[in-house]
Amino acid sequence: MSIQFKFLENFWWGSATSGPQSEGRFNKKHDSVFDHWFDIEPEAFFDGVGPNVASNFYNSHKEDLALVKEIGLNSFRTSIQWTRLIKDFETGEVDEDGVRFYNEVIDECIENGLLPVMNLHHFDLPVELYHQYGGWESKHVVDLFVVFVKKCFELFGDRVKYWTTFNEPIVVVEGEYLYQFHYPKLVDGKKAVQVLYNLNLASAKVIEVFRAMGCDKDGGKIGIVLNLTPAYPRSNGEEDVRAAQIGDSFFNTSFLDPAIKGHFPEILIEILEKDNVMWKSTEEELEIIKNNTIDFLGVNYYQPRRVKAKESEIDESKGWMPDKYFDNYEMPGRRMNPYRGWEIYPECMYDIAINIRDNYNNIPWYISENGMGVEGEEKYINADGIIEDDYRIDFYKEHLEYLHKGISEGSNCFGYHTWTPIDCWSWSNAYKNRYGFIAVDLDTQRKTIKKSGRWIKEVVENNGF
Ligand code: BG6
Repeated sequence: MSIQFKFLENFWWGSATSGPQSEGRFNKKHDSVFDHWFDIEPEAFFDGVGPNVASNFYNSHKEDLALVKEIGLNSFRTSIQWTRLIKDFETGEVDEDGVRFYNEVIDECIENGLLPVMNLHHFDLPVELYHQYGGWESKHVVDLFVVFVKKCFELFGDRVKYWTTFNEPIVVVEGEYLYQFHYPKLVDGKKAVQVLYNLNLASAKVIEVFRAMGCDKDGGKIGIVLNLTPAYPRSNGEEDVRAAQIGDSFFNTSFLDPAIKGHFPEILIEILEKDNVMWKSTEEELEIIKNNTIDFLGVNYYQPRRVKAKESEIDESKGWMPDKYFDNYEMPGRRMNPYRGWEIYPECMYDIAINIRDNYNNIPWYISENGMGVEGEEKYINADGIIEDDYRIDFYKEHLEYLHKGISEGSNCFGYHTWTPIDCWSWSNAYKNRYGFIAVDLDTQRKTIKKSGRWIKEVVENNGF
């Protein structure tokens, strides 16, 4: 078989999940905002399915990681849940069962030839810290996060060499404070802006501690995972282009610039100051942000953002919202994933690669999530009981082709992770859309490798396709 798209040596081929989406709540001493939301409003979750069992990773991690090995991957990302590892959020006293659990997961990854990539926050703020302090609105919570993270570095830093501070922090801002898809579902632009800043500060403080503890010696690296949704304007007209720039500055460069360049984008600062909604910061904090930038970037890419100049009426009742500067643009003829309602636009992989090469010092980066959620995959089960998910294989191939093009033109990308190895619980969408290489039967928790799982094994063996 001839290989048309060959990747670099030691390329990461892997897949990502998170603690709250895979483990289940077994033996967890605290609740996250999602655990709590499910307890008080189960009907808000697709088919009333919550995080209680998820894909049972707490109990079946050994078998699950053996399956991940069976599909040939060489790397694996999950996250450590603050609500599982820590018993006392103020002192950082750990829960022994949480320590045992994450030790086992890390050791099993290594035994199975999977490079562990550990993320420290995946939408799973302890709900107590929201009720007590206002969650990410509070700088005290930023410091408590650092207490938790120090424990992670102390306990697991000998074996985990790749860490990420946050997964998709802008989604916390959007979900909790603007568009109501994460508990506490507020609509409060001013708080959203403070949270955006505090999350950037938290990431920088974690990086500072990582280096102060010497975790960067012996090959340790720290990064952040951002969902990049590059904003394409409807037209080259000045107003559309300006709308796209503002959209980009709120949803993409608000984290990308501080993470890599150590400062916030000018255009964002101008707007927030003009509108009198600027966050509260100190000189000392801004220095921390400036001096503690990432070693590598993880990019989650699912869909582009298409933007046009504001045409719809501004809803004043909501107070300040970034949307006053742009409207989303439904481009005629765009290709859609109808289950998730997201546009499919593989060309964007190339645009992201070139943007990082040209505007972000060509920092080492990898695709930390890319995937296609499909509902009702049972209808693709063949006579042998295997889901024939050719649509997913095609989706990956198309995206990898554009990534390959970016790499061949010099972009410093060292890996590709899909979302997700094993079908997992996805927030309020629960198990509606399945993304895995491995299917989960929710009634029995039986796990079966899909056709795409066999396909990726060959890709890894050939380091391309
Ligand atoms: C990413 C998140 O944005 O998308 C994951 O990091 C999430 O946590 C994935 O599960 C898919 O999202 P959804 O809503 O389609 O299940």
